[in-house]
Amino acid sequence: MEKKIHSLKAAFSSDLKGVTHSKEIEELKVKYLGRKGPVQGLMVELKGLSPPERPKAGKVINELKQEIATLCAEAESSFALSEQASRFEKERLDVTLPGRNRFIGRRHPIKLMLKEVIDILSGMGFSVQYGPEIDSDFYNFEGLNYAADHPARDMQDTFYITDDLLLRSQTSNVQLRVMETHTPPIRIIAPGTVFRNENISARSHVFFHQVEGLYIDKDVSFADLMETMKEFWSKLFHKDVETRFRPSYFPFVEPGLEVDVRCTACSGEGCRLCKQTGWLEVAGAGMVHPNVLKNGGIDPQKYSGYAWGLGIERLAMLRYGINDIRMFTENDLRLLAQF
Ligand code: DAH
Repeated sequence: MEKKIHSLKAAFSSDLKGVTHSKEIEELKVKYLGRKGPVQGLMVELKGLSPPERPKAGKVINELKQEIATLCAEAESSFALSEQASRFEKERLDVTLPGRNRFIGRRHPIKLMLKEVIDILSGMGFSVQYGPEIDSDFYNFEGLNYAADHPARDMQDTFYITDDLLLRSQTSNVQLRVMETHTPPIRIIAPGTVFRNENISARSHVFFHQVEGLYIDKDVSFADLMETMKEFWSKLFHKDVETRFRPSYFPFVEPGLEVDVRCTACSGEGCRLCKQTGWLEVAGAGMVHPNVLKNGGIDPQKYSGYAWGLGIERLAMLRYGINDIRMFTENDLRLLAQF
């Protein structure tokens, strides 16, 4: 029995030496300690021994069993450790490497500005209407009370397609279309692209964006226009801004005005942005001319209204500190990626 145990131990330790992976330990355990294994065989042999020999031999077999189990457990955990270490080594990440940038598309600054203006005005109860970019002289000029010899009607200033068809020079062309198809109260904004035959420079371009506003109802007053403007500009600039109205001339409104807000950069002290005036010109506006209401099929005795038009490029230039209008159409990623 002792001899057997001895050679079993020797066999086991040589098997153990041959193990190269933690998974093989389990097989080794089954091989030696399993029900059909040699240790169990010795247990069976115990029965053949004389009663006085049995306890001693039993104890030795148990010790052998323990020893094999312990050696297996030790080997298993040391394999597990080194296997984990080598797995970690393989999976090592250099977290100090800079990541690879994925290129994500962005909204164009003009679209951002448009969205902001539309969101604010929608929230104030104006619904959005769109009009055609190619329109007739009537909607863009004649119906809006432009005199036949008004300079804006000249080919120098407006792109004509035929004698009567043109690229709209202002979103004001939506006004009459809305009046024709709606009955007051009318409370709309009309965002869109407009076109002018201008020399391209830092301050002017051949196409740009406007948002027209139009409100027609009974008893709409100049005070309504002032309050609406003040509210809108305050919301846009996220602070209570002071507004100023200067008389101006647009054929389709009477009185016509130019709307200024206190310079948002210097609060009126005078700076480069406001060219030392303390004010920023932000919109044209006025009370809808009775002739225009008539042309739109609305009775000026019963109804009155106000209108305004603002330029989105100018606002975006103020908001984002862009000093050349051409940058909006150059598609330079160094600019666009900043939004
Ligand atoms: N359409 C004018 C322009 O492009 C801006 C404007 C001025 C619009 C006064 C209006 C207004 O509705 O009432 O210069």
